[in-house]
Amino acid sequence: MRVKTDEGFEDLRAIWMEDENIKMIDQRLLPHELRFHTVSDHHEVKEAIKKMVIRGAPSIGAAAAYGIAQAILKGDDLKETAEVIKSARPTAYDLFYAVDHMMENGQEKPKITAEAYVDSVVSKCKAIGDHGGKMIDDGMKILTHCNAGALATVDHGTALAPIRHANSEGKDIFVFVDETRPRLQGSMLTAWELFNEDISHAVIVDNAAGHFMHRGEVDMVIVGTDRVAANGDVANKIGTYEKAVIAKENDIPFYVALPVTTFDPDTKSGTDIPIEEREGEEVSKVFSKYIMPKNSPVMNPAFDVTLSKYITGFITEKGIFSPDKIGKLL
Ligand code: MRU
Repeated sequence: MRVKTDEGFEDLRAIWMEDENIKMIDQRLLPHELRFHTVSDHHEVKEAIKKMVIRGAPSIGAAAAYGIAQAILKGDDLKETAEVIKSARPTAYDLFYAVDHMMENGQEKPKITAEAYVDSVVSKCKAIGDHGGKMIDDGMKILTHCNAGALATVDHGTALAPIRHANSEGKDIFVFVDETRPRLQGSMLTAWELFNEDISHAVIVDNAAGHFMHRGEVDMVIVGTDRVAANGDVANKIGTYEKAVIAKENDIPFYVALPVTTFDPDTKSGTDIPIEEREGEEVSKVFSKYIMPKNSPVMNPAFDVTLSKYITGFITEKGIFSPDKIGKLL
């Protein structure tokens, strides 16, 4: 991803491996500060995923792949390592896929296998951009929720990849960025990525999405996903479901962008997808200050499920598919 610096531009990935250490952009500090976080064992990998130093399904998968490679290089107990890393967060399927992939294929050449896994994630995202970018016409306004950009996928993004592609072709596009309470991945991360790429955008509060859709100002919605069930139901950041319903009500196409590895063929429907419940202080406090009575209870599901009937299509590295074609795709 392109990042503006005092000297010009830098091309960065969200996560990479240096010798036996895993390095990542500390996503908790953006957009104020670009700082790198170093992880040196699997307990630290788990903490980095759990505390959202690194986040977004494909980037979580990359952290897991590097974490297993690191453990193999260090001679750690692999069964324990896999269990610890898999317990970091429950919803993103990429986490489980990446751990299993490395356990099966990484024993002989751990670092090379992890690098190959991560490079394949990046090239899939690039292909998602190529396919999805063709659907975006000059002058289109696109709404996105959360951050499904390069930070969430190592590079390019899923939802942001078609947007990056359309922008690189010189199309005049505009992005509505939902701020995405409570962690603000939209305003703090997506807006930062779009700013760095000089892509025209505005941050809106989550409650404003329906207003702009109803006024005919949104041509298309594109989001990412943490897991897609076999029937095409999609788990994504809390608030995605209501955006999909409002999009359908207003005849606005609603696309989900993902690498095929985010499809979970063993989970039958959305109700079977485990939904992470995160700590209440993400809601009750803003920048360490309570914004509600301290003792009021909080509910904080991190994801919701959008039923496949609200989804126009899946933008994948293999092309664009309607939900009824998932069987064929898998
Ligand atoms: O809690 P997060 O920030 O990890 O949630 C991220 C999302 O919901 C993304 O939309 C999803 O992981 C897809 S990332 C390409």
